[in-house]
Amino acid sequence: MLLHRTPACRYEGPLPSDCVHVVVVAPVWLGRLAAPMRKFLLDHAPFSGSVSAVCVMASRGGFRAEDDIAFLTGKTPAPALVLKQRDVQSGAAAEPLAAFAAALRNRQTRPEAIVRPAWISPREA
Ligand SMILES: Cc1cc2nc3c(=O)[nH]c(=O)nc-3n(C[C@H](O)[C@H](O)[C@H](O)COP(=O)(O)O)c2cc1C
Repeated sequence: MLLHRTPACRYEGPLPSDCVHVVVVAPVWLGRLAAPMRKFLLDHAPFSGSVSAVCVMASRGGFRAEDDIAFLTGKTPAPALVLKQRDVQSGAAAEPLAAFAAALRNRQTRPEAIVRPAWISPREA
C-alpha cells in the first residue's frame, strides 16, 4: 500500500471484530490512514461494534484518514478527532483529547451521544 507494498503488522490483543467498541489511533501517511493500520483494519473487518478514531498528522490528510477508517470498518468513527503532531507535542491537544475521552465515557452510558469536533480547519486537515 505504501509504495505499493502491503506492510506486515503484528497484533496480540483481543479480536477487534469481537469488541463492543474499538478506538483506532493512527498517523496519517501520504495523505491517508497509515498503510499498516489500513492493512490491520482490512484483516479484521467486519467490525460488529462501534468505532472511534484519533488520527495524528503533520498538517494534511486527517479527514481522509478518518474516511479510510469508516470505509475499512464499515462504521462512521464517533467520536473522531484529527490532531496535529505539533499540538500533541506542545500540549495544545490536551483539551480536545479530554473532550474525546469524555465523549467515550459518556457514550458508555448514553449511546446516542456523538461528538465530532469541528475545531480544526478542513483546509488544513
Ligand atoms: C511515511 C510518512 C508519511 C507521512 N505523510 C503525511 C501526510 O501526508 N500528511 C501529514 O500531515 N503528515 C504526514 N506524516 C507525518 C505523520 O502523520 C506525523 O508525523 C504523525 O504525528 C506521526 O505519528 P507517529 O509518530 O505516531 O508515527 C507522514 C509521516 C510518515 C513517516
